[in-house]
Amino acid sequence: MPKSILISRGLSPEALTLIPKDVTVDLNGHELALSPQELRSRLRGKAGLICQITDTIDDEVLATPGLKVVSNIAVGYNNIDVAAAKRRGVTVTNTPDVLTETTADFAWTLLMATARRVVEADRYARSGQWTSWKWDLLWGADVHGKTLGVIGFGRIGRAVARRAHGFNMRVLYHDTHRVSPDVERELNATYVDQATLLRDADFVTLHVLLSADTQHLIDERALRGMKKTAILVNAARGPIVDEAALARALREKWIAAAGLDVFEEEPKIHPELLPLTNVVMAPHIASASLETRVAMSTLAVQNCLAVLDGKAALTPVS
Ligand code: GLV
Repeated sequence: MPKSILISRGLSPEALTLIPKDVTVDLNGHELALSPQELRSRLRGKAGLICQITDTIDDEVLATPGLKVVSNIAVGYNNIDVAAAKRRGVTVTNTPDVLTETTADFAWTLLMATARRVVEADRYARSGQWTSWKWDLLWGADVHGKTLGVIGFGRIGRAVARRAHGFNMRVLYHDTHRVSPDVERELNATYVDQATLLRDADFVTLHVLLSADTQHLIDERALRGMKKTAILVNAARGPIVDEAALARALREKWIAAAGLDVFEEEPKIHPELLPLTNVVMAPHIASASLETRVAMSTLAVQNCLAVLDGKAALTPVS
């Protein structure tokens, strides 16, 4: 049977060139994601799907006859019904590792930008209001020597923690499992329960997968358990934070500020966050360096081709 794949939306040219000539490619070259109906209809007759987090891969999509592999260009895969895929014998793959360091860099970018009010400073510098040096202009918070709290101590969480060493910070972490004593020693990280982490950290950064267990992990109660001077960073998934509660927390100063790359209902942003100056926002770009986006799409293509060739995927979702 001839091999054919659907690429739901754009792909780097470097990755496209890896696809051999005998594989038929249906590429959605448009800016916009396919609607669920278009996705289902264009997937008919295809054995592989290379998709993105904006595509909902539910049981109906997975029921496509002959579909063997769904290759997500992302490390997170909450857009895919993995249990249904397993039931139907469809392999699901993601793109871990290649984006770890870039995503950790960006969590730090948000942390620093928020602590030192870089976005407000940029607006001020451009606005014409800057008429002389002022000793009390745009005071922010020190980062060095403070306490970093990492919730979710997988690859990305650990990469974020590793960077704290250069800032001479204390590192606390929380996860469902403790890492090995060797890793704790290497990263100088102390395991604590979540309430302790929220209570003691100056910066709380989230690196858990989105699941029923982590949805609204940071809710009103969690936010009220943080320091008034604390800064929250979310470069994981929007629904991990109750955005309405966060907007209140930022407005009423239960916490000092937040740096957000992800939102509950992307691309919508909670309207109460928009007017606040103590939040730095980005449009879900944590892994968006040129090198990493090429590496992610290359890995997604390799995963898809491996399964179509009857081989094991490089990075299957277990
Ligand atoms: C992006 O959000 C990813 O999960 O890789």
